[in-house]
Amino acid sequence: QDPRIAKIASSIRVIPDFPKPGIMFQDITTLLLDTEAFKDTIALFVERYKDKDISVVAGVEARGFIFGPPIALAIGAKFVPMRKPKKLPGKVISEEYSLEYGTDKIEMHVGAVEPGERAIIIDDLIATGGTLAAAIRLLERVGVKIVECACVIELPELKGKDKLGETPLFVLVSSA
Ligand code: PRP
Ligand code: MG
Repeated sequence: QDPRIAKIASSIRVIPDFPKPGIMFQDITTLLLDTEAFKDTIALFVERYKDKDISVVAGVEARGFIFGPPIALAIGAKFVPMRKPKKLPGKVISEEYSLEYGTDKIEMHVGAVEPGERAIIIDDLIATGGTLAAAIRLLERVGVKIVECACVIELPELKGKDKLGETPLFVLVSSA
């Protein structure tokens, strides 16, 4: 394993019982405070995607907006925000996904991407996989090829990867 991974993993703070009892919250704000860990996190993604002909980095609100833009700048791709409902001012397409109770939505501006473009989708963490699965559906509806989903952290016990179908998943840190 890349020696940078262990330092990244140790920079992530785990807060028990937040926001609800039983949840071990993976807090990436402490990673952002560690200048080396943050730089290495971005570098690992950039090294993986720089020569893959990627023109779109799609980031999922909110924490995908932290990691996506520096990757996009470094690989010469555009950054496309996938936002929570009713935030984007232009015409949008949206995709619903289920939560423990009820549903949520992500939205993207019409015209942000062209059919045939090659994208990666970035988020901080995959848990059940519902959010990333919705992001994949949204981009596929407009004819974009999803090369891979990339996250800093995976909670493997929740088997979120199984929700992504054929789309590969790349993660830096697996959390027990
Ligand atoms: C968290 C996390 C991922 C998502 C993963 O975001 O940042 O986006 O949940 O969960 P899933 O794999 O079960 O779909 P959250 O919706 O809590 O909001 P935030 O990023 O805006 O804080
Ligand atoms: Mg999120």
